[in-house]
Amino acid sequence: EGGKLWGGRFVGNTDPIMEKFNASIAYDQRMWDADIRGSKAYAKALEKAKLVTTEEMHQILQGMDQISDEWSKGVFVIKPGDEDIHTANERRLKELIGAPAGKLHTGRSRNDQVVTDMRLWLRDAISTITENALQLISTMVERAAAEIDVLFPGYTHMQRAQPIRWSHWILSHAVALSRDVERLYEIKKRVNVLPLGSGAIAGTPLDIDRELLRKELAFDGISLNSMDATGQRDFVVEFLFWASLCLTHLSKMAEDLMLYSTKEFSFITLSDAYSTGSSLMPQKKNADSLELIRSKAGRVLGTCAGFMMTLKGLPSTYNKDLQEDKEAMFDCYDTIHAVLQVTTGVISTLKVNQSVMEAALSPDMLATDLAYYLVRKGVPFREAHGVSGKAVFTAESKNVALNQLTVEDLTAISPLFGSDVSSVWDYRSSVEQYSAPGGTAKSSVTAQVEHLRNWLRTQ
Ligand code: ARG
Repeated sequence: EGGKLWGGRFVGNTDPIMEKFNASIAYDQRMWDADIRGSKAYAKALEKAKLVTTEEMHQILQGMDQISDEWSKGVFVIKPGDEDIHTANERRLKELIGAPAGKLHTGRSRNDQVVTDMRLWLRDAISTITENALQLISTMVERAAAEIDVLFPGYTHMQRAQPIRWSHWILSHAVALSRDVERLYEIKKRVNVLPLGSGAIAGTPLDIDRELLRKELAFDGISLNSMDATGQRDFVVEFLFWASLCLTHLSKMAEDLMLYSTKEFSFITLSDAYSTGSSLMPQKKNADSLELIRSKAGRVLGTCAGFMMTLKGLPSTYNKDLQEDKEAMFDCYDTIHAVLQVTTGVISTLKVNQSVMEAALSPDMLATDLAYYLVRKGVPFREAHGVSGKAVFTAESKNVALNQLTVEDLTAISPLFGSDVSSVWDYRSSVEQYSAPGGTAKSSVTAQVEHLRNWLRTQ
């Protein structure tokens, strides 16, 4: 078949169903810009190797600029034989500049071209996502700083545990996200390696200056082994892992917020801008933003697992199975990109109902502090825990709140209780005890805010 890049040894046409099945142009056209950047750099390396003349190089560069213009204006016409972005751009180059276009692929394979494009694309995508994540973290940190005096119940096992600052809760999620950003930097280092010049499998026998290609395309290094460079996709998998983990963090946060936004809790009110209604029940205001944020971890982890299954047991070097890498990468990018922006919107617009949050605190949540009261009087913690547990039991049997027990009730349990025990029953002084680094005291939460603000400044 005459029209195809690889048509020389073929007789007759590809079956139309196969043609469609084989093609990746529907989605890999997203890499048009990376593909053009890669080809322009490659034309320069060909010129240096005297495989194209300076004149031909300029024709290629100008042709590529025109193609770039067509893509950015949305007027590039994809033709039936365009199998992928690489063949489409080269076909168009031939239409524009004629014969010199046929020299561009000298010593290059789509195997090194496609991973070069993907690495260029993912490098930019990672920069965008880093910005999105930093924006979210900064929104959370500033919210934590502004609402540092708000207290509410902290839960373990979803049972009331201890009073904490609302800011402490926000920052617990911001800190996890800051680690995600640091992981992204790690991944970017391994993405930012140039594969071009690896050919199909064996490297290049021509005088292609890979260092020139590296500089032109601003990669940090060049790949060490041509078979590895063309046949491995761990840089894609790492990105998929990363997105799965980051979305797992966000799903946890979304789940808490969903609970806090129920009528029963009413700790927060979600903005109408991030809620939706019911087609049947007029009163409904649903937290669809949070539910979708929660859902996406499943989608992305599924994509990651699916692509790893595709990779498992593949033979060395390029196999067409690898074409599946792109939809996985794009979908995870689109998902995390949207989720980070929506989460920023949700966090920056939700209303905190401070009085409801603080009214939800209850004296039983101070039972730990009651034990610490005894610890400060020299009682071993295990024993103090038991004494405080007895106090909880007594309060429950008398059907009164823990702080309603009289000093006589308490001294009957332990003679070490005195009238100063009343100092335990104050939520604000309770949280202030937790002033060691990482705790929920104001000084400690302020230190967390400052730490994250400084971290944000250095990103
Ligand atoms: N569309 C292909 C892909 O996405 C490009 C590489 C094709 N290489 C090949 N030898 N068939 O992986």
